[in-house]
Amino acid sequence: MNILVLGSGAREHAITRALNESSMTDSLFVAPGNGGTSNVAQNVAVDPMDAAAVLEFAKSNNIRLVVIGPEAPLVAGVADALREAGIAVFGPGAAGAQLEGSKNFAKEFMAKNNIPTAAYAAFTSAAPALEYVREKGAPIVVKADGLAAGKGVVVAETLEDAEDAVRACFDGAFGDAGSSVVIEECMRGPECSMLSFVTGGQSFPMAPSQDHKRAYDGDTGPNTGGMGVYSPVPIVTDAEMSKMEAIMQTAAAAAGEDYRGTLYGGFMLTEEGPKIVEFNVRFGDPETQVVLPRLKSDLAEIMLAVAEGRAEDIKLEWSDDWAVGVVLASEGYPGAYEKGHVILGIEEAEALPDVTVYHAGTARNADDELVTAGGRVLTVVGKGATFEQAREKAYEACELISFQGKQLRHDIGKKALQGRSAWE
Ligand code: AMP
Ligand code: GLY
Repeated sequence: MNILVLGSGAREHAITRALNESSMTDSLFVAPGNGGTSNVAQNVAVDPMDAAAVLEFAKSNNIRLVVIGPEAPLVAGVADALREAGIAVFGPGAAGAQLEGSKNFAKEFMAKNNIPTAAYAAFTSAAPALEYVREKGAPIVVKADGLAAGKGVVVAETLEDAEDAVRACFDGAFGDAGSSVVIEECMRGPECSMLSFVTGGQSFPMAPSQDHKRAYDGDTGPNTGGMGVYSPVPIVTDAEMSKMEAIMQTAAAAAGEDYRGTLYGGFMLTEEGPKIVEFNVRFGDPETQVVLPRLKSDLAEIMLAVAEGRAEDIKLEWSDDWAVGVVLASEGYPGAYEKGHVILGIEEAEALPDVTVYHAGTARNADDELVTAGGRVLTVVGKGATFEQAREKAYEACELISFQGKQLRHDIGKKALQGRSAWE
């Protein structure tokens, strides 16, 4: 079958590489793709947000399956437009995508379905929001309600920071996303992501993974889209795994028969048990880059079964390997950064056994050199029979890659090596 993947991150590069390995895949297209997807598929200049253009491309290229990577086209209803035209889509429609598109909607969904999460209140103007944070005190979490590319969340350790965050939201720092604000109780504990294939109200959990959201070593600095990741997660107990799987099943059933795609549970492993920090309606980035390489089953077969609502055909098999991924970012990320710096050493890095380099913000310049073109540039993934081996592989490969302003965390997975007490 011919497949079209929408998106341009390292997540989409990982999805595309896995789809490319399937015997079911004939032609594989990525819109718009990046400097890495062009090595395994054909990049096409179609805007993922333009439903009419995506549909037109899908029809004229005999596309059987469209896989939607990022949240924005899902929230905008691109999946609905394609499905109405009879094309199988991996990714929920706009109704299901509200679980990520509106934090307020997600909170109500969790309350209605008894899904454990932080206590919260929602506000549409500054004065009552400020009064609420003063009443609750710090630490407290302030979130812009809509999509803000992972940057609309402030974990305020002081009341002053919390008040500043509330004011920033209502002053338009996050555009429309900040016109409504959710204020949450601050939860403590390690975070753990569980992605799940969801179709027909059933959840098929993938291997757990752990992201590192803060920009700098020691979990300091601003929140980012994710600076590094590993899978599985050694500190998670069997009891916590079962609890997380049960929560994902509750969410899948409540999301309804029509939800077909990935549901991403972002958990915090609190002393009272796993609680949801957020749901996303797509694969995580960088989680995908360590989860999919460990999937032994055929991804194209699974995605088509999800898209066509054939839950009975989904069987997931996982390798026992560990995978650790380190993000190489542009200096300044998640703030302003430069683009266009030449990237060297990817081939040398990938020549190491068990190393894969996924492209995110990369492009080819006029001289056909690979250059930086985004905040997160690459995810460098090492695999190994042990966590330590995978981690060493990833960092060895990172050293071989160079570009001006290369920014990375040096402590991905360090806390997991120290054990649970590292979070106390
Ligand atoms: P979100 O965009 O909702 O995933 O939030 C981004 C990050 O902020 C999360 O991954 C957590 O690290 C942190 N965070 C969000 N909500 C809370 C909360 N209620 N308590 C503690 N940390 C939180
Ligand atoms: N890594 C977090 C996310 O994809 O939202």
